[in-house]
Amino acid sequence: MKFDAFTADPSSLKTDALVVGVHEDGDLSAVSRKLDSAAGGVLKRLIGRGDFAGRLGDSLLLPETAGVGPKRLLLVGLGNRAQYGRKALRRAIGTAVTALTRTRVKSIALALDLPDRDVDGYVYGRLAAEVTVVALYRVNDLKSGRKPKPPALESVTIGPVSTAEAGAARRGLEDGAAIGAGVHAMRDLANLPANVCTPSYLARAARDLARRHRSVRVQVLDEAAIRRLGMGCFLAVTRGSEEPPRFIVAEYRSRRAGARRSPPVVLVGKGITFDTGGISLKDPPGMDEMKFDMSGAAAVIATLGVVAELELPLDVVVLVPACENMPSGRAIKPGDIVTSASGLTVEILNTDAEGRLVLCDALHYARRYKPDTVVDVATLTGACVVALGAHHTGVMSNTDELATELVSAGRNADDRAWQLPLTDEYGEQLKSNFADMANVGGRDGGAITAAAFLAKFTAGLKWAHLDIAGTAYLGGAQKGSTGRPVPLLSEFLIRRARSGASSKSR
Ligand code: BES
Ligand code: MN
Ligand code: ZN
Repeated sequence: MKFDAFTADPSSLKTDALVVGVHEDGDLSAVSRKLDSAAGGVLKRLIGRGDFAGRLGDSLLLPETAGVGPKRLLLVGLGNRAQYGRKALRRAIGTAVTALTRTRVKSIALALDLPDRDVDGYVYGRLAAEVTVVALYRVNDLKSGRKPKPPALESVTIGPVSTAEAGAARRGLEDGAAIGAGVHAMRDLANLPANVCTPSYLARAARDLARRHRSVRVQVLDEAAIRRLGMGCFLAVTRGSEEPPRFIVAEYRSRRAGARRSPPVVLVGKGITFDTGGISLKDPPGMDEMKFDMSGAAAVIATLGVVAELELPLDVVVLVPACENMPSGRAIKPGDIVTSASGLTVEILNTDAEGRLVLCDALHYARRYKPDTVVDVATLTGACVVALGAHHTGVMSNTDELATELVSAGRNADDRAWQLPLTDEYGEQLKSNFADMANVGGRDGGAITAAAFLAKFTAGLKWAHLDIAGTAYLGGAQKGSTGRPVPLLSEFLIRRARSGASSKSR
């Protein structure tokens, strides 16, 4: 996909389709007024007749236009003028692109009025590219029969922007396209069935990144190497499975010439390629969705792709403990006690609380980087889905400023997250009579006791935990990966790299 910004009068543009916005009040913006008079007043007539009400989510294609450069016009609703902001703009762009992908249009130009509160040229570009790329996502299904034709869209231009703002708009387009590609990459990985997306497959996905970007180095550790690292908790989870585990280490080093290395941000992703629950077996209904239990891994690998694509000037390390959680004659049993890489012992009361077991050893491994910040990403608890539903990712941290930074990155990326309190009492629920701790803390506050378990391995680190059990994928008729929290993580790292200088009010 090619993206660009235009500064010219849109009515003269040579494009397959020009997208113009209409508010519910029917008043045309300066851009649409000009276009309207060039096209003989067709917009005013349509609105006057009540054929287009400008509601958010509405669009109307005018397949023939006389007097203007564009071959087609697409009216798109911008909704109530008083409520017009970044979110409405995002929705309008999505509506326009979705409507146009049903045609054979190859090039589109967006000429939407911008809400002046929270959108500048950079944000416009970023939204346009991200939304376009995401709207074009098609799942790699394994259905036999004829595949539907892929959308014909090849190029998107946005404007009209002032010459002064064109540079920022193009930077926004670049960032947005990279984030959109990251969302695709995560969805592709997470949507695969567990008989394809195995731990070794995840390792290959990481290696592919290294092949595409010289700034990325990947190291994949097998079971023997995992044992040498003393990762007893990780090994306990993989024991019941015939599928070999992998510990994936991917390092992105920015190529700032001559700069001294600074402590990296380490991202840790839960890579359970299938979670049956183990001996504490899950109920059959919906168990297929546990193929998504590697969404954290998919998210951090995809985010590293965004970082490398944008050549962000900060160092990022991705760690993925990947294995299956299966019941078998060799599987761990409730009551088994294992020793983590940190030396702390864990009584495994419920083998279905396996995510924290693979993560605690990976979090311990993160220490060797003397990291600036560690963020783990995991479909960790059903309790987080109960607490926040599918709308907010749960954020828990031992450092409030870091939690705030992540929540605010999520807000700006329209990939929202909400902080839950991680105070000491929750850790006390993990007391065991036989080991340093149990792996479960009872039903109450389950999302937080899971984080409290991880917190025991991150003392002295600046660490946050993202529970994406509710946000990483949808169930039911819309079953599939959402690509979240790639936008949140990308925004977090972009802001870190550019110290918040990327644009206004973000
Ligand atoms: N992968 C699940 C969490 C999960 C549940 C993700 C629902 C997405 C949707 C995790 O490994 C798990 O099974 N957690 C248990 C923990 C419990 C045993 C303390 C849970 O949430 O039930
Ligand atoms: Mn589980
Ligand atoms: Zn799990």
